Amino acid sequence: MLEVPVGTGILTMPVYETLPDADITCLDYSPDMMERAKRQAVKRGIQNVRFMQEDVGHLPFDDNSFNLVLSLNGFHAFPDKEAAYREIYRVLKPGGIFCGCFYVKGENKRTDWFIEKIYTPKGYFTPPYETAESLEERLKTMYKKAKIKAVEGMAAFRCRKSKTQISKNSKKATPPIGNGTAFLSFLS
Ligand SMILES: C[S@@+](CC[C@H](N)C(=O)[O-])C[C@H]1O[C@@H](n2cnc3c(N)ncnc32)[C@H](O)[C@@H]1O
Repeated sequence: MLEVPVGTGILTMPVYETLPDADITCLDYSPDMMERAKRQAVKRGIQNVRFMQEDVGHLPFDDNSFNLVLSLNGFHAFPDKEAAYREIYRVLKPGGIFCGCFYVKGENKRTDWFIEKIYTPKGYFTPPYETAESLEERLKTMYKKAKIKAVEGMAAFRCRKSKTQISKNSKKATPPIGNGTAFLSFLS
């Protein structure tokens, strides 16, 4: 599986600790964030995770490489969301699963205000932001099966790439936020 972006690994390292037989690649643009994830991995004795500093918009993998791509709280930060959607789709194997969570606008006024007034000006989040409806439409266009659940300003999603279909990459943009812990059961 591929996790992008791993960030500090705060959400996933405790899970990976329980998956010693999985083949896991964690990727992030920021070496500083990933350094903290690496430290967590060492502390937990995790040996089956490799870390790569790369851009989600230019993934250094062949087409159809991964059974699963996990993206928690990343799309709100990605500067080129179209490239991120495209690349994740490309590296996913036919029948593979893309799941994760991120901020969607229009679900919670306080969250929207906070994102617009604080996080966006500070550069923590990068527009344009998806709505729950636009995300659903995008994923259902690109993937064979897509399940989306929005709770307040956070959308969790799980979709499966067709085993036969050629990519129909959507032209729309997206993004995310959040605290993914509450969504891990939904995603699994
Ligand atoms: C809010 S953090 C989320 C990290 C983690 N998944 C979590 O939930 O804690 C967003 C991460 O996206 C990474 N990021 C931003 N743009 C990126 C890009 N183009 N390619 C890869 N990672 C990127 C940042 O470095 C940051 O670590």
